[in-house]
Amino acid sequence: MALSTGYSKIRTAVFISGTGSNLKSLIKFSKIKKSPISIKLIVSNNSKAKGLNFAKTYKIKKKVLNFKNKNSDEIKLLSILNINNIEMICLAGFMKILSKNFIKKFKGKILNIHPSLLPKYKGLNTHEKVLKNNEKYSGCTVHFVNSKLDSGKIVLQKKVKISKNETQVSLAKKILAQEHKLYPKAIIKIFSL
Ligand code: GRF
Repeated sequence: MALSTGYSKIRTAVFISGTGSNLKSLIKFSKIKKSPISIKLIVSNNSKAKGLNFAKTYKIKKKVLNFKNKNSDEIKLLSILNINNIEMICLAGFMKILSKNFIKKFKGKILNIHPSLLPKYKGLNTHEKVLKNNEKYSGCTVHFVNSKLDSGKIVLQKKVKISKNETQVSLAKKILAQEHKLYPKAIIKIFSL
């Protein structure tokens, strides 16, 4: 990703809606020397998101916007991102769909992590669908965000094997553990291109 920036590390915002385990792994990654990013802002549409606690733990700014009025909240958000000189956005379990207009403003600078081997199983309930279809493998994907759901250019994927007695819970856990490694790897890949 070619970003001409005056900062030594790419000022990044992470958007979450829930637990924030990917957020935590990204924060930890951001603190190592070889990391190209520095996390400056956590955004959530859910004031009760557990992941918001990482803002306090790691002294990172946070902002909650409920997205009930998406249009006005996105306008507010764009202004907050600007004020904080945010250069890249990582979606990590963020359950709202950003508008075309918003994505255009951060074109090529929004990443997402999805718990399936895209282009298979876009959208919600991926593990349920994967198991119903008796897939042998599933996995996770880091991709750029474009205006179509889970359809932007793929950066990196990790495959996992589905075990005989796999359940949605066990599969989610197995894939999540891989997500925590894949997101940092994908970021390193993007900035070394
Ligand atoms: C992850 O599985 C992610 O791929 C999906 O939502 C989950 C978020 O988990 N989009 P967490 O909040 O990062 O723990």
